[in-house]
Amino acid sequence: MVITIDGPAGAGKSSVARKLAQRLGFHFLDTGAMYRTVTHVAMQQGLDLQDVTAVESLAAALEIRLEHDRVWANGCDVSISIRTPEVTRNIRHVADIASVRQILNRKQRTLVVRNDYVTEGRDQGTEVFPDAICKIFLTASPEERARRRQRQLLANGQAIAIEQLLEEQNLRDDQDQNRDVGRLFAAEDAITVSTDGMDESQVVAHLESLVRTKLPSD
Ligand code: DC
Repeated sequence: MVITIDGPAGAGKSSVARKLAQRLGFHFLDTGAMYRTVTHVAMQQGLDLQDVTAVESLAAALEIRLEHDRVWANGCDVSISIRTPEVTRNIRHVADIASVRQILNRKQRTLVVRNDYVTEGRDQGTEVFPDAICKIFLTASPEERARRRQRQLLANGQAIAIEQLLEEQNLRDDQDQNRDVGRLFAAEDAITVSTDGMDESQVVAHLESLVRTKLPSD
């Protein structure tokens, strides 16, 4: 069984999806980490990110392993390096390549064959798992998402003005919503949940109750 959680950056998808998976006894798949890994390794190898053939060959050959909260690329732990602002800024080149998306979609579909999964990303309910048993579109107002990001950064010792964060966020939203393939939008049969005014545990509890109504009773 697959449960998909899609939505814009900063809506709190990753930690909510991870916790929801724990509560349900499902595995968790962070598909953004896969796009980040291809981007990071391509940058590390000095590839031109606009060279479609080179990035496609890399994505096809790369062994990406996601285990608990760690990410491995060809056996190297890249969990920290895939989260740098440079990688985040460059992902769009990789995420815009249709053939790379097909390769990652295949890897995602292969992963979920043996176990139950909560998968999280932008195109999970629309493109990768159109038959998912439950689809959630998780969102929040731009201001709330930027404020959350500001608090996260502050906790890591970085003070960044809300205006700058909003600007970067608007740019990412624009890129995510307007790519030719795999663009971000809510599937017709997705349940849209706005997390404004809710803390993380409230969101997880709300999603769990929604999802449980869709699961087959034992
Ligand atoms: O969820 P995240 O912020 O780690 O994702 C990083 C980027 O990867 C995001 O800006 C768009 C891309 N992405 C995608 O195109 N499709 C997905 N299924 C997941 C992420």
